[in-house]
Amino acid sequence: MAGNATITPWEVKGSIDYKKLIEEFGLSPLENLPKEFNENVLFRRKVIFAHRDIQRILDAVRNKKPFAMMTGLMPTGKFHLGHMLLAEQMIFWQNLGAKLYIAVADVEAYNTRNQGLEESRKIAIEEYITNYIALGLKPKNCEIYFQSNRSDDAKKANAFYRLQNILARHITFNEFKAVYGDVTPGKMVSSLLQAADMLHAQLPEFEGKPLPVLVPVGPDQDPHLRIARDISQRIKDPKFMQLSSSYHIFMPGLKGGKMSASDPSSFIALTDTSKEAETKIKRYAFSGGRDTIEEHRKLGGDPDIDVSFQYLKCFFEPDDRKLKQIYDDYKSGKMLTGELKQVLIDKMSLFLKKHHENRQKAKKEIGRFIGKD
Ligand code: TRP
Repeated sequence: MAGNATITPWEVKGSIDYKKLIEEFGLSPLENLPKEFNENVLFRRKVIFAHRDIQRILDAVRNKKPFAMMTGLMPTGKFHLGHMLLAEQMIFWQNLGAKLYIAVADVEAYNTRNQGLEESRKIAIEEYITNYIALGLKPKNCEIYFQSNRSDDAKKANAFYRLQNILARHITFNEFKAVYGDVTPGKMVSSLLQAADMLHAQLPEFEGKPLPVLVPVGPDQDPHLRIARDISQRIKDPKFMQLSSSYHIFMPGLKGGKMSASDPSSFIALTDTSKEAETKIKRYAFSGGRDTIEEHRKLGGDPDIDVSFQYLKCFFEPDDRKLKQIYDDYKSGKMLTGELKQVLIDKMSLFLKKHHENRQKAKKEIGRFIGKD
């Protein structure tokens, strides 16, 4: 699908043509956003490029009506730049007034990745939640919960697991097969549990009534959304407002392919020291440069495939004029790959130093985020 790429929740490979992806998945391009969105580089630079039914969310923002943002994290491996892309969106929506629901997908990790619940809990806290807080997540209007332990309030927990279980009647095995291809009991449970994650904010025991819910995701999660959206409209009691979703591009790994938890040279983790990050960028960052300096000066480089440039664009160079200058200079051959990498290294070291200080403070805040109810 999407050209010659494969994109499923369990596997992403090949080079992705996002225009084709929009068509094949039946998404809408994200355009004509209100101006507060353009202040955010991820929207302005189309890193978040498509949506389903986002109008409902935009209306809620404009009319100052309640809405929620729901997402989940698979607590495996190190927290890296790919995860930061979603964290920044969570914080953006929280600042715009969204109530946040964040699921730690420990049951999904147990059933599909063979990872124990204790291990998931530890990684979720030390890696994901600590970094979210250090990046600016606030405890107010934010519920972080574990799929294995929705709430200590029995009414809420019952409502959540009741919903998860009654969803099963509203989907067929053939629909599962059409959406996921290979189906196993673990995948089926994960799918319905994730649908419950996405929908339960609308229950009487949670936000009290149907409300707009945005789920920001990478395109690999779209199958889960399609299932949850279909099911939600088949259930008559309680009624659910259709889910909204937004789609961000896949952040390239350092070497150009994907970031892989088992290969630390494929990503920059937010716990890497400045020195480690510098070494990784110098050694591994895939470059759009030419083989020799002479050729590069003559023919110029390709910033569009250069990983250092992508990281500057998505995270570390918020100034459009400066980013364009780098783009133009690299393309014309005036700027060499080593110089481009150095721009990224300087910006990233500053960021990492500050972030590590913030992480120390964040560790003391964890209790304000989990186990609240
Ligand atoms: N399946 C998601 C992942 O692999 C995690 C997840 C669980 C999730 N529940 C969710 C994502 C609800 C979005 C919304 O990362």
